[in-house]
Amino acid sequence: MEKGYLIAPERLITDDFIVRCYFPGDGPLLAEAQNASYEHLKTFMAWAKPHTTEEEAEQRAREWRAHYLLADDFGLGIFSPDEKRLLGSAGFHLRGVSLDHKSAEIGMWMRADVTGQGLGTAVLRALLDWGFTAWPWERLAWHCDGRNLASRRTAEKAGMQLEGVLRAHRLVDGVRRDTFCFAMLRELRVTS
Ligand SMILES: CC(C)(COP(=O)(O)OP(=O)(O)OC[C@H]1O[C@@H](n2cnc3c(N)ncnc32)[C@H](O)[C@@H]1OP(=O)(O)O)[C@@H](O)C(=O)NCCC(=O)NCCS
Repeated sequence: MEKGYLIAPERLITDDFIVRCYFPGDGPLLAEAQNASYEHLKTFMAWAKPHTTEEEAEQRAREWRAHYLLADDFGLGIFSPDEKRLLGSAGFHLRGVSLDHKSAEIGMWMRADVTGQGLGTAVLRALLDWGFTAWPWERLAWHCDGRNLASRRTAEKAGMQLEGVLRAHRLVDGVRRDTFCFAMLRELRVTS
């Protein structure tokens, strides 16, 4: 099957946050958000580390921008309305599936000091709405570790359906963990 190409939407503006692709120059904001959130991220985000330099984060932002333009992965920053603060990060990820399938997995983390205020749910709802209107997605999925109650609850509140549990799916620190699989389909979309 053809690899496919997409001139992807680049920016979603709401009253409370802006979701947009990363650009060169975002490194310092990304490093600051990750470094302020390490304790919060380390349990479920395998890539988290105690300190990320601005140079490392800048490289990551540029890699995301490159993938965005190649249309093979769509990393998104979640910014405050003035774009001076990174509130979190998200993405529509193909996870090895061709773009032609119109099926992506949403990933997301929020910075520690904004969690528990409804923002994660609001961003996920906005991503689902944007994904099924401005993007070609027919299916959007959300996968999380079964122990990640905040993530499970966020998916439920955004109207995603639990499709099943992959039992003992992943080996995390020597222990087999379940993966909870949520999804929403464009044709059965619930707007909440
Ligand atoms: C998952 C995450 C994005 C949710 O963001 P958030 O801004 O805290 O989400 P909300 O404030 O909208 O809360 C969503 C629900 O989760 C619940 N919740 C939050 N933390 C929780 C916890 N530790 N245990 C149980 N429920 C929790 C909230 O109470 C809320 O449910 P409620 O309204 O029924 O009370 C955020 O916690 C996060 O960044 N976690 C670390 C990274 C991560 O795990 N990402 C998801 C990977 S799949």
